Amino acid sequence: VAGEIEDLYVVPDRRGQSIARRLAQSAIERLRQEGARTIIADADADDRGAHSFWAALGFEGDMIRFALYADE
Ligand SMILES: CC(C)(COP(=O)(O)OP(=O)(O)OC[C@H]1O[C@@H](n2cnc3c(N)ncnc32)[C@H](O)[C@@H]1OP(=O)(O)O)[C@@H](O)C(=O)NCCC(=O)NCCS
Repeated sequence: VAGEIEDLYVVPDRRGQSIARRLAQSAIERLRQEGARTIIADADADDRGAHSFWAALGFEGDMIRFALYADE
């Protein structure tokens, strides 16, 4: 069973205070209790801050999504 953490945001002036870490840890605990073995979270491919955040919590990058946009 896999669980997903979708859209975790902290307002800019409260970042760097471990708020997202605590939110994510609470979500991870809840998902584990629900039986999730793998927990996934998406981040934009070029969002280095989000990559570092998930890596700091022990997540490993394993997929890149490709998108084909309509010509505008
Ligand atoms: C990414 C985000 C949620 C981090 O929130 P935050 O409350 O500042 O993060 P925390 O203070 O809990 O940081 C936890 C760890 O992640 C690391 N980290 C967080 N943001 C980072 C950044 N921009 N660059 C490098 N490392 C970062 C911290 O160094 C910290 O590691 P440490 O405890 O080992 O020092 C926040 O910057 C945000 O809302 N960004 C925009 C939305 C987004 O990208 N969400 C994630 C994808 S859905």
